[in-house]
Amino acid sequence: MRIADGIAVVTGASSGIGAAVAVRLAAEGARLVLVGRDPERLTTVAARTGGKAVVADLGTGAGIDAVCGAVADTGVSLLVHSAGVGAAGPVDELDGGSTTELIAVNLAAPIELTRRLMPSLRQTGGHLVFVSSIAALGVADEAVYSATKAGLRGFADAVRIEVPAVGVTTVLPGAVDTDYFRRRGVPYDRRYPRPVTAERVADAVVHGVLKNRTEVVVPRWLTLGARVHGAAPAVFARLSRTFS
Ligand SMILES: NC(=O)c1ccc[n+]([C@@H]2O[C@H](COP(=O)([O-])OP(=O)(O)OC[C@H]3O[C@@H](n4cnc5c(N)ncnc54)[C@H](OP(=O)(O)O)[C@@H]3O)[C@@H](O)[C@H]2O)c1
Repeated sequence: MRIADGIAVVTGASSGIGAAVAVRLAAEGARLVLVGRDPERLTTVAARTGGKAVVADLGTGAGIDAVCGAVADTGVSLLVHSAGVGAAGPVDELDGGSTTELIAVNLAAPIELTRRLMPSLRQTGGHLVFVSSIAALGVADEAVYSATKAGLRGFADAVRIEVPAVGVTTVLPGAVDTDYFRRRGVPYDRRYPRPVTAERVADAVVHGVLKNRTEVVVPRWLTLGARVHGAAPAVFARLSRTFS
């Protein structure tokens, strides 16, 4: 699809991957609608990209309404779902509140926004990007996060089949050097994969849209993990236990 002059909505635009995607899309000539909760950081990204800031909590119905309202008159041709939160720890030690938040922000919000904006995306022959995670394959001590990211990938797969007029790209990053780990309260302590920059993920997002890629894994060598997982899930689980 053509990015230039299209209306692109980017969630999670106030930080990390979403902010880097906004900068990349602005360079491609997109007109941006930037969604986040933190007004100060969001305004900084909006000033840098010429985008319109929409302060919204995607864990709430009012937040979803605010995003849909912001593009009610213009329509949307690109919708990048990057907002997300993490939680780490043994599954029986995760608190119920964070489980509910993860499901609301990482999974329910992208589904609901996609559902509400689909008529406009169909009309523009637009494109959807879901920032999932390599954790969609299943990562120990990140069970709920993994489930939300696998759910997102499954939703994307179904929409891709159901709506051929709209491009759908799922992005599966490994570790990315952003505020994500600080915010979840547990630092990244695995040896592999080594964290990549948010800009590298943003490049992959834009490439995925321009080339209409189904799935993009960053860094690319992690594709091997996805292949093993698909062909032999028990082997994947054994390897994952050994190497993490
Ligand atoms: N970092 C990694 O290693 C990694 C790896 C794979 C996948 N991912 C995924 O990549 C995406 C972006 O993460 P990141 O690394 O860029 O983390 P980040 O720097 O912490 O950014 C997270 C973004 O999500 C927004 N957000 C969180 N809760 C929200 C809510 N309730 N309503 C609206 N916005 C909300 C934040 O907005 P405010 O700051 O304004 O609250 C922020 O813009 C996430 O979906 C994450 O799961 C990250």
